[in-house]
Amino acid sequence: MGKTEKIAGCLFILLIFKSMLYRMGKRWYDYEVIIRKGVRIMRIICAKDYQDVSRKAANIIAAQIQLKPDCVLGLATGSSPVGTYQELIRKYEAGDLDFSKVSTVNLDEYVGLNKDHDQSYAYFMRNNLFDHVNIDQANCNIPNGMNPDAEGECARYDAVIAGFGGADLQLLGLGPNGHIGFNEPSDSFVKGTNKVELTKATIDANARFFESWDDVPKFAYTMGIGGIMQAKRVLLVVNGEKKAQAVKDCFFGPIKPQAPGSILQLHPDFTLVADEAALSLVKDLL
Ligand code: F6R
Repeated sequence: MGKTEKIAGCLFILLIFKSMLYRMGKRWYDYEVIIRKGVRIMRIICAKDYQDVSRKAANIIAAQIQLKPDCVLGLATGSSPVGTYQELIRKYEAGDLDFSKVSTVNLDEYVGLNKDHDQSYAYFMRNNLFDHVNIDQANCNIPNGMNPDAEGECARYDAVIAGFGGADLQLLGLGPNGHIGFNEPSDSFVKGTNKVELTKATIDANARFFESWDDVPKFAYTMGIGGIMQAKRVLLVVNGEKKAQAVKDCFFGPIKPQAPGSILQLHPDFTLVADEAALSLVKDLL
């Protein structure tokens, strides 16, 4: 065998070896798992970390906007979607997204905070998304935390959601106790927008953002389970080990109001984008 054939042979073996290594070492988080239950589909997209979750979720939202420029997005606040919003802003700045015809309905708002308070969810949305893209803020809906008439405010917000026929895509985060929106674990699922009393744990957790514990809002208006389930597509982003138990309880356990997110198992088009840490307790089930 000549020198050239020997080199070619070695290169060929190296190529096969590399391809074997790639297959063996293929990252498990590249996989997408689809669980079929009759006609219902729960799609789980496994991501590497928070940044990966954010990128994958933003791609889905971007596709929604591109396919239906006048779509209605249901939006969430909290730390989980911040990276997703940053990715969407990046796509907008790159000229790939146009928000001019998009409408939005947010999940919740604190009772007693006006929209300019820096801890209000209205402020959060402007700060993290609306002020950075070409959305018409007249089309952005958030419960009015300053309306003292709870019944009236909840009915008004339900009418807004119903007027849209539900969101085209509802983005959600997941509480460590399995809550979605401010729908906390309880003995029943609440259908419509409602005024909820925040749990002591939530007030304690929020206290760091306010001057004193007394300043922390004790109530919030939240879209109900019915409003969330009315969305044509639901996308939930979750990351970190502290959410792993909630992921297991909500998406791999029975459907029950004590794990509010579990209702999403009944949604016909539900996608969970979760990182390795959040999926750590269900890894063997995927
Ligand atoms: C936010 C919301 C909440 C959060 C949840 C997770 O509008 O309704 O349900 O999505 O509490 O919060 P983070 O993302 O801060 O862990």
